[in-house]
Amino acid sequence: MPQRRHLATTIPGPRSQQLMAAKQTAVALGVGTTMPVFAARAAGGVVEDVDGNVLIDLGSGIAVTTVGSSAPRVVDAVRDQVGRFTHTCFMVTPYESYVQVATRLNALAPGTHEKRTALFNSGAEAVENAIKIARVHTGRQAVVAFDHAYHGRTNLTMALTAKSMPYKHGFGPFAPEVYRAPLSYPYRDGDIDGTAAARRATSLIEKQVGADNVAAVIIEPIQGEGGFIVPAAGFLAALAAWCRDNGVIFIADEVQTGFARTGAMFACEHENVVPDLLVSAKGIAGGLPLSAVTGRADVMDAPHVGGLGGTYGGNPLACAAALAVMDTIEADGLIGRARQIETLMTGRLRDLQTRQSRLGDVRGRGAMIAVEIVHPGGTDPDPDTTKAVAAFAHAHGVIVLTCGTHGNVLRFLPPLTISDDLLHEALDIIEAAFDATAGGHA
Ligand SMILES: Cc1ncc(COP(=O)(O)O)c(C=O)c1O
Repeated sequence: MPQRRHLATTIPGPRSQQLMAAKQTAVALGVGTTMPVFAARAAGGVVEDVDGNVLIDLGSGIAVTTVGSSAPRVVDAVRDQVGRFTHTCFMVTPYESYVQVATRLNALAPGTHEKRTALFNSGAEAVENAIKIARVHTGRQAVVAFDHAYHGRTNLTMALTAKSMPYKHGFGPFAPEVYRAPLSYPYRDGDIDGTAAARRATSLIEKQVGADNVAAVIIEPIQGEGGFIVPAAGFLAALAAWCRDNGVIFIADEVQTGFARTGAMFACEHENVVPDLLVSAKGIAGGLPLSAVTGRADVMDAPHVGGLGGTYGGNPLACAAALAVMDTIEADGLIGRARQIETLMTGRLRDLQTRQSRLGDVRGRGAMIAVEIVHPGGTDPDPDTTKAVAAFAHAHGVIVLTCGTHGNVLRFLPPLTISDDLLHEALDIIEAAFDATAGGHA
């Protein structure tokens, strides 16, 4: 598929508008879309819509198609598997690819200790299972999550997720024994360094929950939906050390940060942190639904036989795709490519920041980069400009997403297969978007 942006109609085009109207009469209102544009095909760094518009993809379907949409090895592996069998249920008659995925994840996850893996379908399902495993292992119930956290939309993961609208509003009651601690948020924390921020969190846990009651601390090494917040150096390591000292399971939710996205296979590696349990999903299988919990063998083996599983968990098509994703990351040097993307994007965005004071903070690692947009002269969140910049980008054929507790973070998650040319073109449009929405207060 040609790797270039092309606008054949205004966006959305007529066919997308028709399909959007059909969606409104067929699909539940609660299922929203970022862009009113329907996809026809996608590859590399572009998505073509049903009107022939070719959009630059800075979203990867929310950090999923890290190896690109329809990556050749993934397509071949899934084609081959679909011709042999689509499902037997691993809990009924197992198959080798599930064991291969588990073996490779055990080797890839940080730490040299013995590990085990269990496979599931979605990020939220894997997070729930990580909590189940931690509770059985420790015999404790309390779970600590952080400000701005996002862990999913099922009942337990809604309780872990911080933001009410749109994720939790009206959907309670939520699961009990979930507590929230303050995060390290360098842009808004003033002088508090990573160690002090960790102490602030752990002393709150000790006072309000009691360390002996805590089964697990769960954290995204770089927060995703919460605003691509990279904690201060030392924060994650100090939290992990506190967990170790107190018999608490440290769970890294690497659903968004995992699989080469941040310029390491897993983001914990940037801080030399070895989690007890690591949750992966999204980028793991190139778009097929798969998720995993990987961790210390003694913890993972705590639940009784039959205590973990699910009809589709580790589906053979998804396992075939995951093996092809791991091969692709390795063979194509995609971890290094993520670091190149970081250099290119942060360079351009920091340059723009010198001219546009509304770019309060440029942050992130690898191909997980964001700008936090604020009102000039301060740090007050500016969700309106954020929306306007995203809308301008969409209208000009660039897929971008927003995030953040205040909706004032523009986030970039390009596939690692995107070319530098496409990235530069997309960033030209983002710059033009800031100029066009400056409102006289650049
Ligand atoms: C850090 C994190 N955890 C969990 C989830 C939930 O994953 P899923 O949408 O596959 O259930 C997400 C999804 O965005 C996420 O970013």
